[in-house]
Amino acid sequence: MEERKDIETIMLTERQIHNRVVQIGHEISKKYKGKDLLLVGILKGAFVFFSDLVRSIDIPMAVDFMAVSSYGNETESSGIVRIMKDLDDPIEGKDVLIIEDILDTGHTLNYLLKVLNARKPASIKLCVLLDKFERREVMDIVPDFTGFKIENEFVVGYGLDYGEKYRNLPYVGVLKPSIYED
Ligand code: IMP
Ligand code: MG
Repeated sequence: MEERKDIETIMLTERQIHNRVVQIGHEISKKYKGKDLLLVGILKGAFVFFSDLVRSIDIPMAVDFMAVSSYGNETESSGIVRIMKDLDDPIEGKDVLIIEDILDTGHTLNYLLKVLNARKPASIKLCVLLDKFERREVMDIVPDFTGFKIENEFVVGYGLDYGEKYRNLPYVGVLKPSIYED
């Protein structure tokens, strides 16, 4: 693939990701047995993780999506979040599990949790594929399910982008700094 040349190293291979996603799917299935589970995918970054994850969950569940954009430049979010697409249905009384690609400063999820909590779900928990824990600014955001804790590097692939590119790479790779530093 043409975009491969922009990748410095492969951080997580397809197989590593697959194995971990299957494990998380089993954890979720156990934890939410008998509950009214609603998986909320955060677009666009979580779409690949989301679609793999739902196929590893073997209890009844529903899906919905939200699209948010955080103001900022392409590698740093500002903490000011705008809802571009809201959920289709009310979440009152539901057990909501938010599915996000990456937890970085925590501003995006902090804002989302506030918005969704105000709608009175029965519970609300967080599942992230990647956790860049060293970058956390909102300290009380702690994911309930985490795929991988990673070092502070800008990564793309498996849904994650830089300038809308690289989402289709099947692995998570570190982007060459020369791509965004000029
Ligand atoms: P936060 O608000 O700083 O936690 O930012 C979270 C959002 O920033 C994610 O949903 C991503 O869209 C984006 N982001 C943060 N780090 C990366 C990265 O390494 N690669 C691609 N997107 C990232
Ligand atoms: Mg992005």
